[in-house]
Amino acid sequence: MKGLVTLVAGALATTCVDAHRVKEAYDRTFHWGTLKATKLPKFLTNNPLPGGTPWGNIDPKKVDPRIPPTTGVTRYYDFTISRGELAPDGYLKTSGILINGQFPGPTIEANWGDNIQVRVTNNITGPFEGTALHWHGLFQNGSAFYDGVPSVSQCPIAPGSSFTYKFQAGVFGTSWYHSHYSAQAAGGLFGPLIVYGPSHVDYDEDVGPVMLTDWFHKDYYEIVKNVMSNNSTLWANPSDNTLINARMPFNCSQVKDNTPCSNASYAKFQFKTGKTYKLRLINAGAAGMEYFSIDGQTLQVVSVDLTDIVPYNTTIVTLGVGQRSDVLFTPKAVNGTKAIWMRTLQSGKFCQRATNPTARAIVLLDGAPTNVIPATTAYPAPVDDGTCKNDPLESSIPYYAEKVPDPSVTVQITVNTIVNSTGHQLYTMNDSPFMANYNNPLIGLAYQQNYSYPSHPEWNVFNFGSNSSIRVVIWNNSSGPHPMHIHGHDMYVLYDGNDKWDGTTIVNPSNPQRRDTHNLRPHGWMVMQYNADNPGVWPFHCHIAWHLSMGMYVNFMEHPEKINQSQIPGILKQTCDPWNAYTADHTVEQIDSGV
Ligand code: C2O
Ligand code: CU
Repeated sequence: MKGLVTLVAGALATTCVDAHRVKEAYDRTFHWGTLKATKLPKFLTNNPLPGGTPWGNIDPKKVDPRIPPTTGVTRYYDFTISRGELAPDGYLKTSGILINGQFPGPTIEANWGDNIQVRVTNNITGPFEGTALHWHGLFQNGSAFYDGVPSVSQCPIAPGSSFTYKFQAGVFGTSWYHSHYSAQAAGGLFGPLIVYGPSHVDYDEDVGPVMLTDWFHKDYYEIVKNVMSNNSTLWANPSDNTLINARMPFNCSQVKDNTPCSNASYAKFQFKTGKTYKLRLINAGAAGMEYFSIDGQTLQVVSVDLTDIVPYNTTIVTLGVGQRSDVLFTPKAVNGTKAIWMRTLQSGKFCQRATNPTARAIVLLDGAPTNVIPATTAYPAPVDDGTCKNDPLESSIPYYAEKVPDPSVTVQITVNTIVNSTGHQLYTMNDSPFMANYNNPLIGLAYQQNYSYPSHPEWNVFNFGSNSSIRVVIWNNSSGPHPMHIHGHDMYVLYDGNDKWDGTTIVNPSNPQRRDTHNLRPHGWMVMQYNADNPGVWPFHCHIAWHLSMGMYVNFMEHPEKINQSQIPGILKQTCDPWNAYTADHTVEQIDSGV
């Protein structure tokens, strides 16, 4: 009898400790998507701004969004990165990566034309790891050395050291930042980045970031090891859950071991019928395509990535990893009901691998009670035609119109998978899988006027010299979809199809879609072009974390002779000295491409 009592008490004690651990980890989840979240302003006024907006009363139809005003204002952020437990969906993930103790990281906000300074301290322990943060979609005009890609624009930030990124918010809209060191972003190392600018549409309230993500319970390192393994039975790594603003209760009955798990909450939003809201959708996931909708509502898409577009209506917004869209909607009751589901679905046979593909969040209209669980019905899932395609290029007409120039050079890149001599599956671009050298950033070599690396084909460098306009034709000879992302620029997306491009036909040549990430279809083709107006070494890669780890990455070197800013050696030293010292007596287990 006594034994039994002790046993029960022991079990209770464990449960209590577990519940406490889960709660502590759960409470690190950021506040967007809770009823405590505040709305965002139209622009920041907490700095000396002479009367009104920094951009005056401009007409966004007439002003190039890529030429910012000079505000002279700097926004400062201080990030400390550490390892810790996370439980956004109630399942205790023991190896998460946090910024300032939270997941996702803090929201960076700035006005168009402001400077942003982020001091990043690497406190990741148990085990140590390098890190580096990339500011997705921002051009880093004149500051390629703050782009945050280890082996290209910097050395990794060594354990225990700090590095301060300084760059301009040269474009405006919705974006995000994330680690570019191995697949750390999939461990939680990302957050929203919002730049306020002139609005080409009217709305009442800005709801802020709505982050859509697949979510993996395993440590990212273990997943990378699996996908890189020479045992093909380990290659498929389905995500465990899908989150909206980092929330979606996990069904704990799916837990097969002793991992602590308890009930979590849905993300919640309160709106009023008749008002118009702006939602800033961000696919900040690792691998899965997201199809976003709100039951019974019409959504108006007003931007793709950092490009404002002529608004179009839809019921489902498609976002590949890394893509964003701002949408407006004016909520209405559904069959008299004022509690409605918001959803994102990972869908399509080739576009995702998900154990729990749906995330739901609660939309409450006009003061509907906060404890109601909606009972509304989803729109039918998009028909899976196997293409994982974005919305048609024809639907995204940039609001600021621009004609595509004639390219001064055209290259073709073929994407493929290979199994190498040791049985490991890799992704190649023009037959070469990328492999980073953390200790030798390319921008430093370019500064030394060393522009070609015949003994390092694995650095995948295309030197475009002084070309002014670069066209890239991409053929996907693999069955995976690939959200292709370019750094330092936006790209004109000229063609997207299942069929081989005919070499001439361009969609909307007088004003083609511009964005920084576009989905390349399985076995499909895309054609993009960008203006070489930003000297530097710029990554172009698939944004699926695992494909990137497997080498699906190239560097575009642009105007190398102009990579001559005198501050380059000093800035590189800030990360490379500590990194070289660290690697002199620690082995870095680089299990993947490194980026
Ligand atoms: Cu959002 Cu190279 O990345
Ligand atoms: Cu890919």
